[in-house]
Amino acid sequence: MIVPHSERRVALAARLADRGVLTDPAWRRVVESVPRHAFLPDTVWSLDVDAGDGTLAPVPRSHPDRSQWAYDDVSVITQVDDGAPALPDGRGERATSSASQPSLVVAMLQALDATDGMDVLEIGTATGYNCALLCERLGPEHVTSVEIDPTLARQAQSNLAAAGYEPWLVVGDGTEGVPGRAPFDRVLATVAARDIPGAWISQTRPGGVVVTPWATGFATTALLRLVVAEGGVAHGRVVGDAPFMWLRDQRVPSGQWRDFVDEQAPGAVGYRTTVDPMPVCDADPSGGLALTVGALVPHLNTALYRAADDSGEATVYLFDRRGSWALVEYVPGDADLEAHRFGPRDLCAEIDHARRAWEAAGSPAREHLGISVTATGERRLWVEEPGNLLPGVPGGPGTGGARPHVTCWS
Ligand SMILES: C[S@@+](CC[C@H](N)C(=O)[O-])C[C@H]1O[C@@H](n2cnc3c(N)ncnc32)[C@H](O)[C@@H]1O
Repeated sequence: MIVPHSERRVALAARLADRGVLTDPAWRRVVESVPRHAFLPDTVWSLDVDAGDGTLAPVPRSHPDRSQWAYDDVSVITQVDDGAPALPDGRGERATSSASQPSLVVAMLQALDATDGMDVLEIGTATGYNCALLCERLGPEHVTSVEIDPTLARQAQSNLAAAGYEPWLVVGDGTEGVPGRAPFDRVLATVAARDIPGAWISQTRPGGVVVTPWATGFATTALLRLVVAEGGVAHGRVVGDAPFMWLRDQRVPSGQWRDFVDEQAPGAVGYRTTVDPMPVCDADPSGGLALTVGALVPHLNTALYRAADDSGEATVYLFDRRGSWALVEYVPGDADLEAHRFGPRDLCAEIDHARRAWEAAGSPAREHLGISVTATGERRLWVEEPGNLLPGVPGGPGTGGARPHVTCWS
């Protein structure tokens, strides 16, 4: 039996409501009204299960499962490799655009707390579906959306027009916001930021809200809800998880640790360290330690090889994909470990500093941590309240240069 699309979107809204995700009646009506299938392009992409190597294969419109996806609670990949599939047989390496998972879309819209008459900026138009939801709820005249990829932006414009919405669409770099349409009451990023752009703060009215996925690359990508205070600083907390692709210019170079660690490199230095890397390597990715380390030690990645015997020994790699790495031969109970390092950063010292700062603050769980971001994109991490700052890593972010500690803003 063919179920009409209108019934499927009502069923999707009901499923999200039953799961306790969709709680706001106004947003429920919106999910029931906007046809998600109409925003999916002819070709979408899914993991190539046969290849088993994480590559992405195109799924044509004729595929039997495809019509299901529009109203299942799944994200649908709509572009790979910025529109030019990287592999010679037409498969892709990296998802670069998608229609986000409906439960996440709804959670973010509810966190945004946008009500009648508010002006909203969305970063990452992609298919236009989320933009259509905003238009349906607030009226297109209150919605601005920016997409960096011109082909996607054109497609979104045509999808939105076909569905009857004409918001203000911009092709450009959303990290700059849309100054010509500012100020906004709400900014919603549907793409992950490693460094939250200052423009999102400066273009939001005092009392306004910025909701964005925050991806340090080390901790689980967190959903941040920041409230902009008078004076142009925004403060907020993690309100959930939000796995999203990175802003285009904040992506990490892809590859395994082997692509970034050359143990034979002539400049590599052998030394002994008292830093135990295991608490950081074993940290719960959704916990407070991982968030602190991710925030204070930018671009940190780890790889860990445990000994096959029951000695507990392990080889640990710390690397930043930008020319610095450390290797530690971990031996349980040994306070003086063999190590090697290469590059300008001392990653062992950095993770040690971050872990000590977190422990000195009482080892707070993620929900007790908060973040402040200025209109110039400077970032501070705090515990319980914005004045209670965690000291940044010397020379790292949040220290204003080489100072070992930060002072509190007034
Ligand atoms: C997960 S998709 C957004 C989903 C979308 N809101 C929807 O409903 O379909 C992320 C989008 O952000 C876009 N993007 C990445 N970097 C950007 C940037 N700097 N400025 C604007 N858009 C960007 C990508 O091209 C991609 O289309």
